Amino acid sequence: MEVGRVGQVTCAAFLIACCLTVRTCSAVGKNKGRNLRAGFYQYTCPQAEKIAADLTSAALGQDPTLAASLLRLFFHDCFVNGCDASILLDSTLSGEPIEKASLGNGKTMRGFELIDEIKAKLENECPEVVSCADITAYITRDATVFSGLPYFKIPAGRRDSVISRAADVFHNLPTPAMTVDEMAAIFTRKGMTVDEMVTLTGAHSIGKVQCSVFEDRIYNYSETGSRDPKLQAAYASYLSAMCPPADAVPADLAAEGGDRLVYLDPSSPFRLDNSFYLRMREGKTLLQSDQNMADDPRTAELVGKMAAEPKMWMKKFTRALVRLSRVDVLTGNAGEIRKNCRAVNL
Ligand code: HEM
Repeated sequence: MEVGRVGQVTCAAFLIACCLTVRTCSAVGKNKGRNLRAGFYQYTCPQAEKIAADLTSAALGQDPTLAASLLRLFFHDCFVNGCDASILLDSTLSGEPIEKASLGNGKTMRGFELIDEIKAKLENECPEVVSCADITAYITRDATVFSGLPYFKIPAGRRDSVISRAADVFHNLPTPAMTVDEMAAIFTRKGMTVDEMVTLTGAHSIGKVQCSVFEDRIYNYSETGSRDPKLQAAYASYLSAMCPPADAVPADLAAEGGDRLVYLDPSSPFRLDNSFYLRMREGKTLLQSDQNMADDPRTAELVGKMAAEPKMWMKKFTRALVRLSRVDVLTGNAGEIRKNCRAVNL
């Protein structure tokens, strides 16, 4: 056989092997999650959801601020190549910088230790059965319920990715400077609607943001005015007090890095509710992206509806979260069930 042909055969064989085990073919096996189902571990690890829920409840009892971080962690995992626990990896076989290390995830991403704890317990009870991706989905549901929404079932059957690349983060996640068009383009690419985008952004009714993320709205808004005129005056003054300008940062804060965290919704920082949409309409949002949703004619009406109908928003939120949980998942024989959520199996 001539050299070129040998090369082709070897390459084809490699691809087939690689795609059969699906350890390195990122595109293979990703799907819309229609084959996920509630009660997936009913026979293989019936105690899985309860173990995850008990440990999550204990962790949230100690630190209620973690609920918001779990929701954000899940969103960021699902939007960067699917709900495949790629955000949990500390390293991969390729040695490339990982998702966790990307500035798009930032230093405020939390929840990894809780997932480690749950995984360790589940590996003891039912080794190599429950995926890190499903654990992440379960505890996001638990954090949502802890924050005041009614219980809902979350389907399972996801498998874990062996790929995690910082380079995939930026173009897959919305940023606070984006227009509604730009954010909608990302959500649409993930198979989600603009309505679901507005609904899920109600997650900003809990949790915190670093001053550095929004302080241009208080100090450096435009050439004609330093403060964003959309910010309600009293709220803007509160924000200036919380986030002093760089030359007035007190010594204790400077010692901590100078970037304070401010509640997204100080009126009910631990309760997931539609108060966020009311605040959006009153000029009391931190993120420019949220303000853009309140202003843009395509989303303003949805914001108004969600502000007016708390029960409807709750229902839509849990439904949209389930839809999010199905984005580009690995199922069947794709990916793997990691033994340790921070590392691929060797
Ligand atoms: C639509 C566009 C979105 C943008 C531009 C955006 C941006 C941000 C930013 C910049 C932060 C602050 C991070 C920091 O300071 O470290 C944040 C926090 C947060 N985001 Fe979003 N986000 C969006 C949608 C979502 C969605 C869909 C969810 C959930 C499903 C979500 C959940 C959260 C939560 C819960 C926090 C608080 C996290 C904590 O306290 O640890 N966000 N978001």
